[in-house]
Amino acid sequence: MNEIERIGWLRAELHRHNHNYYINNAPEISDQEFDHLMRELQDLETAHPEMADPNSPTMRVGSDLSNEFRQVEHRYPMLSLANTYSEQEVADFYDRVKKGLEGEDFEICCEMKYDGTSISLTYEDGRLIQAVTRGDGVRGDDVTENVKTIRCIPLQLADGDYPSLFEIRGEILMPWKVFEELNQEREAREESLFANPRNAASGTLKLQNSREVAHRKLDSYLYYLLGEELPCDGHYENLEKARQWGFKISEGMKKCKTLQEVLEFIKYWDTERKNLPVATDGIVLKVNSRRQQRNLGFTAKSPRWAIAYKFQAERALTRLEKVTYQVGRTGVVTPVANLDPVQLAGTVVKRASIHNADVIASLDLHIGDMVYVEKGGEIIPKITGVETSMRNEQTGDKVGFIEFCPECGAKLVRFEGEAAHYCPNDVSCPPQIKGKIEHFVSRKAMNIDGLGPETVDLFFQRGLIKNVVGLYDMFYSRGEIQNVEDFYSLNLWEFQNIPGFKDKSIKRGMESVRASLQVPYERVLFALGIRFVGETTAKLLAHAFPNIDLLAAATLDDLLQVDGIGTVIAESVIRYFADPRNREIVEELRANGLQMALSEEVLSERSDKLKGMSIVISGVFMKHSRDEYKSLIEKHGGKNVGSISGKTSFILAGDNMGPSKLEKAQKLGVQIINEEEFLKMIE
Ligand code: IVH
Repeated sequence: MNEIERIGWLRAELHRHNHNYYINNAPEISDQEFDHLMRELQDLETAHPEMADPNSPTMRVGSDLSNEFRQVEHRYPMLSLANTYSEQEVADFYDRVKKGLEGEDFEICCEMKYDGTSISLTYEDGRLIQAVTRGDGVRGDDVTENVKTIRCIPLQLADGDYPSLFEIRGEILMPWKVFEELNQEREAREESLFANPRNAASGTLKLQNSREVAHRKLDSYLYYLLGEELPCDGHYENLEKARQWGFKISEGMKKCKTLQEVLEFIKYWDTERKNLPVATDGIVLKVNSRRQQRNLGFTAKSPRWAIAYKFQAERALTRLEKVTYQVGRTGVVTPVANLDPVQLAGTVVKRASIHNADVIASLDLHIGDMVYVEKGGEIIPKITGVETSMRNEQTGDKVGFIEFCPECGAKLVRFEGEAAHYCPNDVSCPPQIKGKIEHFVSRKAMNIDGLGPETVDLFFQRGLIKNVVGLYDMFYSRGEIQNVEDFYSLNLWEFQNIPGFKDKSIKRGMESVRASLQVPYERVLFALGIRFVGETTAKLLAHAFPNIDLLAAATLDDLLQVDGIGTVIAESVIRYFADPRNREIVEELRANGLQMALSEEVLSERSDKLKGMSIVISGVFMKHSRDEYKSLIEKHGGKNVGSISGKTSFILAGDNMGPSKLEKAQKLGVQIINEEEFLKMIE
C-alpha cells in the first residue's frame, strides 16, 4: 500500500470506527488506537495536500445522528477537542497559546475530561426547552424527553442572574456502580453487555422509551456555557455562576497560571480520578478568558484555545499461548487469544479478543509472541501490539484464520466490505440456533416470559427442541395442549426430568406461549431473526408487505422500493425466504396460529393521505406526543424528516417552534400546519 492508498484506507477505517462508536455504541478499538490512526491520517494529509477532502474524518467530528429522533440544528456548532497523550504536546499547546495571544497574560482552566456522551441544553427564561446530542456537530438528535428524566439536570431554574437564553453543554454519564448493576442484569437476561459506561450512557440516551431512561439513573456534569449575554468573561467564573443557578459542575476545576501548575494538575488527577464515581479519560485545558478564546479561534474541527490530554491506558506484557475461535449468536466468528495470566488494572487477564482476520494480520501475530494487552473500550481486554524484539527460536507459527466453523464445520464466509468471518449455517449451527431461540422469546420479540433463556437453553441442549417451532410443539401443539395433563400426555417428560420444571412452570410456559399468538405481525417478523432485520426494519417491512406471503414473494426490486431498506437488508430477506428450512419454520408457526399479517385494526388505520410527503415536526404538542405524530405520519404514507428544505411538504408545528425554523419556513414558503389541522387532514 502506498501513502495515497493508505490515506484512503485510513479514511474508510476511521469512518467505520466512528460508526461503531457513535451509532452502534460498540467500539472495536480503544480510543487510543483510534487517535493513533487519526494522527497517522493527519500526518499523511499534511504531506499530501493534493489529497485534501472536506469529508475526511480529520475535518469532521464523528456523528451520533440516528433516524429515531428529530434532528435539530445547533445554534453554535458542537466541536470536538484536539487530543494529546504527551506532556510535551501540552507544553507545545501552552506555547502556541502564548504566541497567539502575543505575550498577553493568560490563565488555563483545567478540568476533568468526562467520558460519557455530550449534550447541549438550551434554557429559555430558566426553563429547559431543548436537549440535543452532538450529532455531526452541525445538527444533533433531539433527546429532550429523555434528558428530562435525568435527576441532576434542572428543568426549571430558580430566580437568578442567568441570561434569558443560553446553552450549557456537558457530558451525560452512567456512574460506574449503575453501569455494573445494569450489565449484571443484562447478563442474567442474556442480553448483550455494554462495553463501558460511555456506551451505556449513549445507548440509554437514545432509547425510545423515556421511562426506561429514567430507570437507568444517568448522571451529568456540565462544562461549557454559551450565549450572547453571559455574566462573565472568564469560563471558570461562568461555570461557578452556573453552579449557583443549580447545575452540576465538577468540583475538580482549577485555574492555572503556569505550565508547571497545569502539569501538576494532570499528575494529581491521573491517580485521583480512580476514586471518582464516573469515568474520566483525561484532562481538558481551556484558555479561561472568552475574549482570548475568540482571539485564538477555531480550526474546522476544534478550538485553538483548548486541548484534551488523555490518560495512558494501562497495559501489560504477556505470552500468547494459542488462539481459539468463538461463534456468536449471529454467526460471527471471533478469534480469542489465550494468554499467560497477567495482572492488569485490578484484574487477572487470561483471554483477550483479537476481533478479526484483519487485526491478526496487521499485528503479524505468532503463537508464543510476547503481546501487549490493554483494557480498551471493551469488556474483554485486547491485544494492542507485539513485542517483536522478544521473538526467538521458540516462537511458533504465524496465526492464520480458520476456514471452517468450529461448532458445526460449515465453510466460513466473509461478506464483501466486512471484516468479520461468518458461519453461514444459521439453520443448524448450535450457538446460532440457540441465539435465534433466545431472540425469539425475548421481550421485544415474542415476549415468552414464562420460559427464561436458561430454560430454553436447557431444552435445546437436551434435544427437546431444535428450533423455535419446538416451543409451540411442546406447549401448544396447534391447540391440542389445553392443560397440564395434555402436556404430559403429548410430551415424554416423565423421562426427561428437567430440574425444577414442574406443573407450575409448565402452566406458565403454556400461558406465555399461548399469549404469543396475539403478538402483532411486525414483531413476529422481528422475532424470526432475519439477519439485519431489527425492530424498526421489521415495522417498515410489515407495513410495506402487510402479510408474510407478500414479503416472501417480494423481489429484490420490490424490497428496495421501500424507504429505509437498502441492499444489505433486502438481500438478507431474499436469502432468508429462499431457504426452504426457513419457509418450513414460517409455515409451522402459521399453523400454530401466529400472526402472519397486519391486523385489521392496523390496516384500517392506514391510508395514503400523506403519500409522497416529507413532513417536519417542530415544537411542543398538546394532543399527541411527538413520537405518536411520527407514527401517524408513517401510517398515512408520509415521511418524517429532520430539517426544512425546498422539498418539505409542510411543517407540523406545535407551540414554541424555534425562531430559526420559522424564518427558514417563511423564506422557503413552506406551509405550517397546526395539530388540529393535521389531525383533520388524516381523519
Ligand atoms: S469542552 C469546544 N470540556 O470531550 C470545546 N469537553 O473530545 C467543547 N468532554 O465533545 C468541549 N469533558 O464530549 C469539554 N471538561 C470538558 C469535557 C469535554 C469531556 C468531551 C466532550 C467533547 C469531547 C471532545
